[in-house]
Amino acid sequence: MISSIIIVLVIVLLFAAICPSKKQGNPHPLPPGPTPLPYMGCIIQMLVNQHLLNQPIFKWIEKLMDKFKTPILCIKLGPSLHIITVTSPEIACEFFHTQDDIFISRPEVLSAELVSDGYLSAIMAPFGDQWRRMRKVLHKNLLSSQSHRWLEPKRNEEVDHLLSYICNQIEKQDNVVDGGLINIRIVSRHFCANLMTKLVFGIRLFGEGIEGGGSDVEEGEHLTALFTILKIRKALEIIRKYQDPLVDGRVQMWNKGARTETSDLLDALLAQDNPKLTPNEIKAQIIELMIATIDNPSNAVEWAMAEMINQPVLLERAVKELDRVVGRNRLVEERDLSQLNYLKACIKECFRLHPFAPLNPPHVPIKDTTVAGYFIPKGSHVMLSRRGLGRNPDVWEDPLRFDPERHLTWEENPVVLSDDDLTMISFSTGKRGCPGVMLGSTITTMLLARMVQGFSWGLPSNVSSVDLVESNAELCLAKPLVAVAKPRLPHHLYPED
Ligand code: HEM
Repeated sequence: MISSIIIVLVIVLLFAAICPSKKQGNPHPLPPGPTPLPYMGCIIQMLVNQHLLNQPIFKWIEKLMDKFKTPILCIKLGPSLHIITVTSPEIACEFFHTQDDIFISRPEVLSAELVSDGYLSAIMAPFGDQWRRMRKVLHKNLLSSQSHRWLEPKRNEEVDHLLSYICNQIEKQDNVVDGGLINIRIVSRHFCANLMTKLVFGIRLFGEGIEGGGSDVEEGEHLTALFTILKIRKALEIIRKYQDPLVDGRVQMWNKGARTETSDLLDALLAQDNPKLTPNEIKAQIIELMIATIDNPSNAVEWAMAEMINQPVLLERAVKELDRVVGRNRLVEERDLSQLNYLKACIKECFRLHPFAPLNPPHVPIKDTTVAGYFIPKGSHVMLSRRGLGRNPDVWEDPLRFDPERHLTWEENPVVLSDDDLTMISFSTGKRGCPGVMLGSTITTMLLARMVQGFSWGLPSNVSSVDLVESNAELCLAKPLVAVAKPRLPHHLYPED
């Protein structure tokens, strides 16, 4: 153990000798932060925090920002890497609006390289031709308004399936309780994963499925691997085991003329011309789309349900809105979403207060620059704090209170889930911002709308309220939310599986 620490230190010192850190004449100071040790920076402090205090890195960063009373912090790691974190919307806008063209790259790290098969896909790719190319494919072909309309029937099948699945679960337990116990985390995550599998591959399950329309062991394995993908090699193997044969099979079908019609996103990726995408590019991009689609929507819906179950007045208000806009004689559809402002405000409040990740993915400046009067060296990792912005008391009144109302400015002003002013982060903004705003907003709102319209929700009789505690390492609920669902619409409206 000691010898490996010594080896690491020697490597760090050698590296430091090769690339010394210099401000190269920039007259501005670095943002405030802990004093770095020569060559090692703050690595020791970080390791002590992580291993001895057993604290996730983001909590250490939050404590440092409090200690230095600063909305922009710099932590130097090793000889030359600067980690910059931000909790002020004004400074965030300077990074992502005013200087968007500079903060446009991503870090090159092993985990990203593995997931993206050598930076072939959009999220992880550093600034350059490959990123431009994949981003263009996403914007123009996969996530455009036209493609969104084209895929609506597939999304509809999956939201219908959501209702039949919950009904089947309730029926199975009919003798046990009045209504049925539903694990909302499992339902939400599987909904997002099955929906994306449907959009990409035209099928909803990798395996056979089980009676009652549920996901089988294959779906569970694939989904768990998507969530653990950052732990990485093994998870990637599992994902590729399910996805790659479908891509390879589809390539052959097109080559042999056995398929002639573009009916899902995989076909759309294969139809790209000038230049054509390689199978490896397609496989890497699909994995990334799957990851991008599952975590944020399912987490927001689980938190929204937990918060609303604890404050039934909020749940009642969302139900009333659905009854007013849609009524009880048909199911809510995507065309209704623009009028469901209260429901969207509930989701937006979850993105603000309970983001899935504490920090935005790093943006890397492609040259030295100055932001808010501070020197930001080329190659820094700039991370907006999703938690810090969303809970900033200078921006949000009583920031820890779950209060959807704060997003309803006036009646006619429709609530949008995006966040161009960076007072909170949902999809982020600028050239590196999320290209999936339309799809992500639709998936999240439909999932919550169908759950709230289709069922009345409560807690098991032995539970008085949901424990709204975050898990220690992440920001999801520490324990998956399990609630009792009872159908609330006429029987004939629930789709049969
Ligand atoms: C509620 C759902 C979603 C949320 C909250 C969300 C949020 C985000 C955020 C915060 C980023 C980082 C932006 C930045 O670095 O500044 C991002 C990037 C990205 N998202 Fe989403 N996302 C969602 C759904 C989706 C969907 C459905 C897709 C596509 C199917 C998608 C594709 C991407 C891609 C490709 C990027 C990387 C863009 C780039 O680096 O150029 N996201 N998303």
